Formats: sequence, C-alpha cells, structure tokens
Amino acid sequence: MAERDIWGNRTAFVLASIGSAIGLGNLWRFPYVCYEFGGGAFLVAYIVCLVSAGIPLLMLEFALGKQTAQAAPGAFAKIDKRLEWFGWFAVGIGFVICSYYSAIMSYCVNYFYYSFTLAWGDDPAEFFNRHVLDKTGDPEQPWALGSFRWQLFFGLLLTWSLILACVWKGTKTVGKVVWVTVLGPWALLILFVIRGVTLEGAADGLSYYVTPRWSMLWNFSPAPGEIGAHELWLAAISQVFFSLTVGFGVMIAYGSFLDDETCIVKNTWIIGLGDALTAIVGGFAVFGALGHKAHADGVPITEVVESGPGLTFVTYPEIINGLPLPHLFGILFFVMLSLLAIDSAFSLVEALSSSVRDKFGFTHRQANVAVSLAGVIFGLPYMFGSGIHWLDIVDHFMNFCGLSIVVLGTCLIVGWHFPASRMRHFINQRSDGKIDIWWDIRIQLIVPAAILYMLGFEVYVRLENAYGDFGLRSQELVFGWGMLLLIFFASVVLSLARPNLRS
Ligand code: PFF
Repeated sequence: MAERDIWGNRTAFVLASIGSAIGLGNLWRFPYVCYEFGGGAFLVAYIVCLVSAGIPLLMLEFALGKQTAQAAPGAFAKIDKRLEWFGWFAVGIGFVICSYYSAIMSYCVNYFYYSFTLAWGDDPAEFFNRHVLDKTGDPEQPWALGSFRWQLFFGLLLTWSLILACVWKGTKTVGKVVWVTVLGPWALLILFVIRGVTLEGAADGLSYYVTPRWSMLWNFSPAPGEIGAHELWLAAISQVFFSLTVGFGVMIAYGSFLDDETCIVKNTWIIGLGDALTAIVGGFAVFGALGHKAHADGVPITEVVESGPGLTFVTYPEIINGLPLPHLFGILFFVMLSLLAIDSAFSLVEALSSSVRDKFGFTHRQANVAVSLAGVIFGLPYMFGSGIHWLDIVDHFMNFCGLSIVVLGTCLIVGWHFPASRMRHFINQRSDGKIDIWWDIRIQLIVPAAILYMLGFEVYVRLENAYGDFGLRSQELVFGWGMLLLIFFASVVLSLARPNLRS
C-alpha cells in the first residue's frame, strides 16, 4: 500500500482538524438552529452535548484512525471485516452533506461578488429570496423545481475548483493552507461581534441568546406548536456532531495521518473548544443584529425573521450595511466565510478520496477529481428555485438522523466490539492527559441510549403526524429514509467490491 502521508508537523494536524471543524456549521448553521430552538436553552443543551458526547467521540475518531492507520472503511474493516460497509456509510452521509454544503459555499461566492455593490440594498431578505434564489413559493412542493440559477451554478463550479486546488497535494498542502483559512477569519469575526453587539437594540437579541428558558430543556410533552425537549436535544447533539465533523469519517482519516508523539487527549480538547468558541462568539454578532432588526421593525425577537438556512444571508448583510466602509467589510466577510468553509469541505473530500485510494489503489489526484466531479453533480438539485427547500430537508434529515445513526453505530462498534477499554488504553498511551472509565461509560451507554431515545421519539412523532396530515415533515421522512437506504446499499456494494491495492 502507498506510504501514508504524515502531517508536516503537529501544529499542522491541529490546524487542519480545527479547519475541518470550524466552517459554515459555526457561522451559518449554528445561529439559525439556535434561533429556531429557543436561543439560550439551545445554547445550554449545546454545551452539555459538546462536553458529554462531542469531545469523547472526537477523541474516539482520532484514536480509531491512528490505531488502524486507515480511513473510515478500512478502519471499521480492521475491527471486523463485515463492518467495512459502515465506514462507507459514514463517508457516504458526509458526502451528501458536503454536496449541499458546497451549495451554501456558492451562495458565499455570489455574496462576495454582490458585496462590491452592496447589491442586497435595504432589504436583504427580499434580495436573497427573489434575486439570489428566485425561491419557489411553497415548501410543501419542493418537486416543482423552479428556475435554474446560473449564477449559483457558476459559484458551485468555482467552489469545487477551489476545493480541488486545496487538496491537490495531500496533507502537505492542507497543513499550509489552513494557516490562512483558520487564523485569518478569526480577526474579522471579532470585528463583526463588536459591531453586532453595539448596534441599537442589540440587547434584546443578546438576552434571547444567553438567557435560557430552562423549562424547554425538560418539556417532554409539548403543547401543539411548542418545541419538545427531545427535539431540542436532538438538534443540539446533531449540531455538535456536525460542527466537530464527527460522524463523517473525516476525523478518522485525519487521525490516520497522525504521528506517534501527538497527545490525542489534549489536542482533542483544543480542537473541540476552539470550534465551540467560534460558534458561540459568532452567535453574539448574529443575535445582536437580530435584536437590532427587531428593534427597528418593532416586533418581538422571535418573529423578526423567517428562520432557516437563509437566516445568515439576511443578518450578515444587515450588519454589513451598518458598518463604515460596508463594501470593504462585505468583501472581507464573504471571503472569510468561504475560507472557513473550504477547509471543512476539503477535509471531507480528503476523507472520501483517501477511502477510495486505500481500497482501490487510485492515485490521490484521480480520486480527488472523481470526488469533486461527483460533488458538482450532486450539488445540481440545489441550483434551482426550490433548492433551498431541498437543502432544508436534506440538512435536517442527514443531521438529525444520518449523523446520529453513524455516531450510534460507532459507539456500539468501538464501545462494545473493539471494545472501549482497549481504545481508552490506546489513547492514554499516546497522551499526557489521561481519560478514565467515565469515557467508556459515555461511549458504551450514555451516548447510545440518549441517541436511541431521541431518534425513536423523532420517528414516532413524525409517523404519528403522518396519519393526520401528510405534510412536509412526513414527505421528508419517506424521502430521507429512502436516501439513507440508498447510501446503505451503495456502501454494501463498495465494501464487497474487490480491493485493488498496490503493494
Ligand atoms: N464541521 C463542519 C462545519 O461545522 O462547517 C461540517 C462539515 C460539513 C465538514 C461538511 C465537512 C463537510 F463536508
């Protein structure tokens, strides 16, 4: 087998993993999910899930990659030959996520262009829905595709060309590119936060963000229209996994490039906390801006904008409008967002292409080109007027169900089959800081039980609704499970295909 690339140095590993973790998940997804699920209550659930599930699992993925020196499919195959499909399943889910992720990146590329003229004007919401998306009216009918958005398509092509350019030389380039893509954006983020929190009326937004309504955390029998606690916790835990890039097979691949001296425990904490901090700090900018808008429009904070994947493309332009030199900051901001996104996206391409390479003996470049082409093709559905409805459905399903299932499986396989105590031993051998049996308990029992409970509840609630009103969420259920089944079959086929390893 081809010799494994090793990270140029330790900092490169940490930066590349932080680069993968910090992305649109922090500045695009976190704020709108947090807004949708009650602000402060979501924030509390997010922090609890980060510490009790996210960080232990991130540690597990690094260790699994390092222990097996394989990307996800090979890593699970080393535990048990019959489990290779599960690794393909994880990268398969990751790939579907990456395909809509790159669609959001194409929005960013377009907004970079719009920044030169501040094309969104005084009404960023109207501009986003009409001019950028030409959004079809009815989210219940995503089948009516609407018009093809050529400018988004060009953005998508550009996005994938950039991703490909970044991964061209493997971990050596990745290690260098991330210096720019991680550290640069932070400076600008701080500036946006300062502007966001000093806007007139920001206080209301900020208080919604940091003051939890505690009862939401245990409201397990919600009245109609209320958010149930199971849904809130599921949203929080899947946001944690999404944000840490856990459950995509990415961190397994990155762990496999790790040298022997790097301390797994300490670095996982640095990466996990660095990622969470970016999301939480960025939240101050968004919620400040939401407060400002609510104040200006004279409406309560919960009604100020339509929640969902479009939220940040409305709030950030609002902040930019209020800055001195708005053109300059607009341009800088969307460059920053694209930079943050690009190292997350290329981590996924890297995970998928190293899996293909490990199994089929492709060259690095062949594998990367193939994955990028597939990425463009799978991104096409989001280029239509109904694209954002699709995006919302796929995002919701792939995160709530897809990632949770992968994490559940990982806990069961590594926790019970490997088992956890052996992995803990392995981690402790390679770390200055040590983990104890509490880690095993979380991997074997607490995380799987919590996910099973929330997932079970989620499916139950939807099925129950399906009888009365076969609405969007129920269509989503059928479409979503259909998609998961397809990914499952593709994974089985890939795992059964004969390997073609070069020695
Ligand atoms: N951790 C990434 C983020 O928060 O933006 C999530 C991610 C999504 C990584 C899609 C990679 C990817 F292809």
